[in-house]
Amino acid sequence: MATKERPAIPENHPLPVGPCTVVIFGASGDLTKRKLVPAIYNLARERLLPDSFAVVGVATSQLSVEAFRERLDREGREHVSGELDPTIWEWLLSRVTYLPGDFRDPGTYDRLAATLAQVDAERKTGGNFIFYLATPPTLFGAIVRKLAEASLVREEAGRFRRIVIEKPFGTDLDSARALNRELTESADEGQIYRIDHYLGKETVQNILVFRFANGIFEPIWNRRYIDHVQITVAEELGVEQRGAYYEGAGALRDMFPIHLFQLLALTAIEPPISFAADAVRDEKTKVLRAIKPLTGEEVLTSTVRGQYGEAVTQGGRLAAYRAEPKVAAGSATETYVAAKLFIDSWRWAGVPFYLRSGKRLARRQSEIAIQFKRAPLVLFRDTSVSRLDPNVMVIRIQPEEGISVRFGAKVPGPSVRVGNVDMDFLYEDYFGATPSTGYETLLYDCINGDATLFQRADSVEAGWQAVMPILDVWSAIPPRAFPNYAAGSSGPAEADQLLARDGRAWRSLG
Ligand code: BG6
Repeated sequence: MATKERPAIPENHPLPVGPCTVVIFGASGDLTKRKLVPAIYNLARERLLPDSFAVVGVATSQLSVEAFRERLDREGREHVSGELDPTIWEWLLSRVTYLPGDFRDPGTYDRLAATLAQVDAERKTGGNFIFYLATPPTLFGAIVRKLAEASLVREEAGRFRRIVIEKPFGTDLDSARALNRELTESADEGQIYRIDHYLGKETVQNILVFRFANGIFEPIWNRRYIDHVQITVAEELGVEQRGAYYEGAGALRDMFPIHLFQLLALTAIEPPISFAADAVRDEKTKVLRAIKPLTGEEVLTSTVRGQYGEAVTQGGRLAAYRAEPKVAAGSATETYVAAKLFIDSWRWAGVPFYLRSGKRLARRQSEIAIQFKRAPLVLFRDTSVSRLDPNVMVIRIQPEEGISVRFGAKVPGPSVRVGNVDMDFLYEDYFGATPSTGYETLLYDCINGDATLFQRADSVEAGWQAVMPILDVWSAIPPRAFPNYAAGSSGPAEADQLLARDGRAWRSLG
């Protein structure tokens, strides 16, 4: 396929990344076609990739380079959002090479070294390689070891070698530690980029800017003014085709140690001394380490687990989790978790953080809601106003990314009445919508060597440390009444009671 020229780079544009080859292990899998290739295409479309760029796919399927390109052409384009620019798409496909091979066979890595030498010379990628492991996690350790044995991870003469892995990073604290040990036997911690795709979301990245680029929020961002925080990651979809994985994971492992705790860490973080990767990551890890460990008794009173049951909704019949493909008929796996946690720090002492996440809920809604303390009613005692609602600031992560602040305003008319109104900022209104898979920034940063948005080993371990008491109690005491919430509902009644006992309520879903 002939290489096409791309239009010139406009002025005032972010700089393209430097020369490099991205090697994707698991190149015939879902992640590659759904996310990675569309994200690389989007970077190319935004003129953020240089001409000295290449992709090498590695997978077990015996395919020629041409056959692999044809397959990517067919499957990849389906997942590119917006209108496909044929010049850029062809520019990208012409830079893709393929190598069939078994990931456990040392011969694969010898052939990979030869392929990389050739691609590197042809495309002038400067000996800089990113190894993206889009494979089952059980292969992470073996692949990195074999790469090291083939001398592919050694960084010399200013060239970089980086390894990208996706969650799950272990299934509990011990296995997370073992994985970290295994990886760092073959590569330096600084070469390992652990992806949490939540940190690729613009609104999540915006939390730090929002908190630290504005003078008005930081002074009230503490226990004196904040009553509590609610972090919600609600999904409308069920477990879909991932029953086999999910049965062994459950909602707690799947969502808490990485996604929800990253949102918690960014909400509660102390100002770092700079935006340098380790300065930010040090502070995030401190927050996670400060999560107060739950005692066995507290696990029973401060956490709730749930599993969805069958329901008939306006949209039709929704199957129970236990009826989903590859799920055991009597499964005890949780598809919903709610927890009340405290951060043992000066700033947050006594402020509850209520976290919840579940599948098959009423609506897809991810947000962080900061509820402030109520104003005293004293001035209104001679009016018809009998209560004042608290101010709530909501950082909406998806959908309708934005930020809103709720406050009381006088309802027009002769008497004093207070109504709640929302001041709303919608990302799209101000900045427009750019088609994005959420992986663009992460890939761009990784190629640039900026690890700020990636998980460090200590932060992953701190996340697991905080969920271990819950995992331990839950595995010792099987759930009693699963399924305990209807598909399409707001979750189990026990989760509502968890907040009701504190005189509070969850924000409604929808
Ligand atoms: C993944 C989990 O990490 O995140 C899935 O394994 C979950 O179970 C997904 O559905 C949610 O991501 P998003 O971006 O759709 O909120």
